Amino acid sequence: MNLRTYRDFSKLVIASANDGKINEFKNFLSNFPLVILGQPPDLKVQETGVSFMENARIKALAAASATGEISLADDSGLSVLFLNGAPGIYSSRYAKNDSERIKRLLKELELCDNRSAYFSSALCIASPNNEILVEVEGRCDGVITNLPRGTNGFGYDPVFEVDGTGLTYAEMELNQKEALGHRGRAFKALTPYLKRLLDL
Ligand code: IMP
Repeated sequence: MNLRTYRDFSKLVIASANDGKINEFKNFLSNFPLVILGQPPDLKVQETGVSFMENARIKALAAASATGEISLADDSGLSVLFLNGAPGIYSSRYAKNDSERIKRLLKELELCDNRSAYFSSALCIASPNNEILVEVEGRCDGVITNLPRGTNGFGYDPVFEVDGTGLTYAEMELNQKEALGHRGRAFKALTPYLKRLLDL
């Protein structure tokens, strides 16, 4: 991990096209003196990695090289124990849209009584000269509900109940999801590194 301080580090490109994730990034990064930019709309990246971290690296490096700015990428997904970790890194490719993905997941778990699952988030910051500056991961344990509950968030949020809360991600406010959730935990792990990079 290269923690050289970037004194000219004032802009950060979020390497994602997912509005739900971008909102969570913006909320988290609002405490840092950074201008947050989106990635170029025409940037298409093949997620060819075999782990969340490998995919996060691929996305952060592609956005940094396309924009000439330091970039932050997340790769995340849902792993279900009964499904041997599926959908995992294929979470976004599990079906054609969020409601079809949820429908497929509930169908796969129809006859199953172990509904344990966890969300993972791998975060990577890369520089335009092809350096990986920081890598961290976060995880949140829970269970897959029998039916969707709640209207906040995105993706699998309505069917993922966080252990010890009785609430799905979709029943939580953004700040609560961020405090307990996989991406929030990864953000927390990222904070000291980001402070050092920014010389704060
Ligand atoms: P990625 O954009 O390749 O990282 O795909 C991640 C996929 O995992 C998303 O499209 C969602 O289906 C799912 N996912 C990741 N994070 C969350 C979350 O916080 N809530 C619900 N679904 C999520």
